[in-house]
Amino acid sequence: MEVVIRQHEQQCGATAADIFADAVTSGATTLGLATGSSPLSVYHELIRRHRKEGLSFAGAQAFLLDEYVGLPPSHPQSYAHVIRAEFTNHIDIDSGRVHSPNGIADDIFTAADEYDAQIAAAGPVDVQLLGIGGNGHIGFNEPGSSLASRTRVKTLTEQTRRDNARFFAGIDEVPRHVITQGLGTICDARHLVLIATGGHKAEAIAAAVEGPLTASCPASVLQLHRHVTVVVDDAAAGQLKNADFYRYALKHKPPQQKY
Ligand code: GLP
Repeated sequence: MEVVIRQHEQQCGATAADIFADAVTSGATTLGLATGSSPLSVYHELIRRHRKEGLSFAGAQAFLLDEYVGLPPSHPQSYAHVIRAEFTNHIDIDSGRVHSPNGIADDIFTAADEYDAQIAAAGPVDVQLLGIGGNGHIGFNEPGSSLASRTRVKTLTEQTRRDNARFFAGIDEVPRHVITQGLGTICDARHLVLIATGGHKAEAIAAAVEGPLTASCPASVLQLHRHVTVVVDDAAAGQLKNADFYRYALKHKPPQQKY
């Protein structure tokens, strides 16, 4: 795991965008996308590079991490809608190749299995972007999620519903259930890039990076993956015990070594 500490959110976005741009220009075709506010700086930078520098996603397909149960893709807060509005409508990826779980399927349990199989057949995901919840969740894998889990239906914690209520008219509108890639599914990706900014993420980042490997902090599963880049600003790095070493290692990184 490499921990990259930057001063500001915009710099974090640029670093994660570098990783995605490098991957795409080196032939990566399968991208893992995330919603939430954390990835927005990455998407802004990738859209800028698409417009100004000709970065092309024409050959790519994308898989989203998760979706609310009960929200159709036309709902402004469905993740299928959000990812298009925030990112993929502004680049040259084929919208029909931007995939997400079907949260309005008659049988959501089968829909979850099918999404997992679809990723396995099309994948592996070359590079997967991740945010982190204040309780250490990735995707919608809440504390207690099996570290080997596959895509499935999950129940949100009340804390996550409260956190996400800001996107809705009120907490009562936030769905209770979701379909999320499992931790095992996420870890099938070749390269995981987790981005977090702000002091409210510091505890979760410290638990994920330096805490014990435990289902109580789902993001700690990253410690088992062979290629992880954690990109954080100074505030989100605030509780990392080894922050000085991460900064030292970055400063002395061999020039030819990529993220
Ligand atoms: C949401 C999403 C996650 C996201 C997390 C943090 O519930 N399902 O993918 O990483 O919570 O969100 P934010 O980046 O807005 O803080």
